[in-house]
Amino acid sequence: MEIKHSLGHANPALVVDAFDLRQQVFTQEQGFPADIDVDEYDDAALHVVLYLNQQPAAVLRCVFLDDGLIKVGRVAVQKTHRGKGLGREMMKFVQQYGAENQHQKIGLSAQYTAIAFYQSLGYQTEGEMYDEDGMDHIFMSLSLNR
Ligand code: COA
Repeated sequence: MEIKHSLGHANPALVVDAFDLRQQVFTQEQGFPADIDVDEYDDAALHVVLYLNQQPAAVLRCVFLDDGLIKVGRVAVQKTHRGKGLGREMMKFVQQYGAENQHQKIGLSAQYTAIAFYQSLGYQTEGEMYDEDGMDHIFMSLSLNR
C-alpha cells in the first residue's frame, strides 16, 4: 500500500487516477450528475490517492480554507476494497498532514451513510442534517489542537 499526493495538478497522472476513481464511485455507483464531480476547488486541492499494487484503490481531496480549516471531500474507496481499513488509512494520512502543517481543524460534509465511518475516526457531527445534491449530509469535524 502506498499513499501519494498531488498539490493541484502538480502530478497530472495522479489527478487522472483520482478523477477516474471519483467518477466510478460518485457518478457511476451513487448516481450523482457527472458534471458536479470536478469543480473549481480541484485546481488548488491536495489530491490523495491510495495505491494497492500500483493500482488506485482509494481517493480523497483536501481543500484549504482560511482560518486553518482543511475541508476533506470526495472520499471514496473502490467497491471491491471496502471494509479493509483503506478509508481509515487515508483519513489518518490527512490528520497527520494537517497536524504537521499547523492546521487547526478538519471538516467535511458527510453522507448520512458514512457518519459511523467518520465517528470511528473521532469526528463529531455539528448542527443538523441538510440536503446536498439530493442526499442527506451532515457537517462533521475533528480538532487538531492538542
Ligand atoms: N457504516 C458503519 N461503519 C463503517 C462504514 C459504514 N458505511 N464504513 C466503514 N465503517 C467503519 C468500519 O467498520 C471501521 O470501523 P473499526 O475501526 O471499528 O473497524 C472504520 O469505519 C474504518 O473502515 P474502513 O474499512 O477504513 O472503511 P472503508 O475503507 O470501507 O471506507 C468509505 C469507508 C465510506 C469511504 C467507503 O465505504 C466508500 O467509499 N463508500 C462510498 C463512497 C462514500 O459514501 N463516501 C463518503 C462520502 S461522505
